[in-house]
Amino acid sequence: MDKLVIEGGVRLKGEVVVSGSKNSVLPIMAATLLTDQTCVIKGVPNLRDTNTMLKILRSLGKNTEFYKGTVTVSATKHANFTADYKLVSTMRASFCVLGPLLGKLKKAKVSLPGGCVIGLRPVDLHLKGIESLGADISIESGYVVAKAARLRGKHIYLGGVYGSSVLATGNVMMAAVLAQGKTIIEAAACEPEVADLAELLNKMGARIKGEGTPTIEIDGVKELRGVTHTIIPDRIEAGTFMIAALITKGDILIKNALAQHQGALLDKLDEAGALISKGDNCLRVRARGRIKPINVTTLPYPGFPTDMQAQIMSLMAVTPGISVITEKIYPDRFMHVAELNRMGAHIQREGPHAIVEGIKSLSGAPVMASDLRASASLVLAGLVAKGRTSVSRIYHLERGYENIESKLQGLGAKIWREKE
Ligand code: EPZ
Repeated sequence: MDKLVIEGGVRLKGEVVVSGSKNSVLPIMAATLLTDQTCVIKGVPNLRDTNTMLKILRSLGKNTEFYKGTVTVSATKHANFTADYKLVSTMRASFCVLGPLLGKLKKAKVSLPGGCVIGLRPVDLHLKGIESLGADISIESGYVVAKAARLRGKHIYLGGVYGSSVLATGNVMMAAVLAQGKTIIEAAACEPEVADLAELLNKMGARIKGEGTPTIEIDGVKELRGVTHTIIPDRIEAGTFMIAALITKGDILIKNALAQHQGALLDKLDEAGALISKGDNCLRVRARGRIKPINVTTLPYPGFPTDMQAQIMSLMAVTPGISVITEKIYPDRFMHVAELNRMGAHIQREGPHAIVEGIKSLSGAPVMASDLRASASLVLAGLVAKGRTSVSRIYHLERGYENIESKLQGLGAKIWREKE
């Protein structure tokens, strides 16, 4: 197992190119199950999670090729409707094969995803939505077993305790595209990744309207065709590099980044004192004098993304003054707090709130990653800490960041990989 070692104190400068979106490509790869024709997906990041989804597609009877950012998925004669525990348990997002399998094969057997360190993460909304389309659903030996001679369009309210659900919206949308009649998804997730999935499905011959808004309308069609599609850039990776620029008092031009996907984050960084220049498909980020403490509350899109909560906490940890960070999507998503405090941060947790008393500097220390975004926040803290930080269990980081250490090295960071 590897760890990352970081010598802090370097101002990051230069250009970085953001990869394609992990959270867009995973449901998009699942959508290839909706057709027997060949699908070509471009701009695919080489991540642990994308490779897990390729394994799942192969276990479901697909041929897959992955070469230089392009995934090609084609059918074999052996379509299989069971997504097994061994694969699904390693990546929750694989649960979104349920909708396309049921839509295409009229039956699906998908392992329940199991626990996650960032929170309970139930799938009740996924099941509610798919059951509303007329599927017969049962839970057997840890698997969701779903059957339906024919799915029928329905008006479905998909709002949950914490608001809309990104993957439940995608799962239900993928089941509804081949259903008979019209489906309306109310309280749908509005994330750009949901809109990207809908764009792909419409290119395959689906009839979807309202994607990117809380009300999505789907008129079912008989079948879908193959497609070629380029996925959107990863807005969370772009956000992570924005914080890297500010926390190191550097100046970074972030390429393949769309300002229109970053409203809430750019607004908060502006409030904190960042100087942000928006260009065509790029953003330049640097500090305008001292960064100021700010309060942040995570919400479903277009609110502040929960996947940027840990990273902005690292910035506030070295910003003198008091900041309050409130987590409204995963109230327990605070595994990074104890590790940041090991580096000398003053962060106190009060239920879904973290009270951050910003200090001048952190000190390097051995820390442990617990999940994808927590690991990013520890790398950011290591970039500014005095001395050396080592971040272990970086397999979490590799799930969602492509070549992060060489990208950071390209900006001048002293970061390298070592065996544990
Ligand atoms: C997606 O997960 C992302 N993952 C997550 O990113 C992200 O944190 C999350 O959306 C919220 O933005 C992918 O797209 C692969 P949700 P998803 O369903 O769809 C509750 C990362 O770091 N809920 O929108 O699984 C749930 O517990 C990952 O890249 C139910 O109660 O998240 C949560 O509190 C981490 N019942 C809230 O809704 C359900 O059936 C939002 O979750 C489904 C969800």
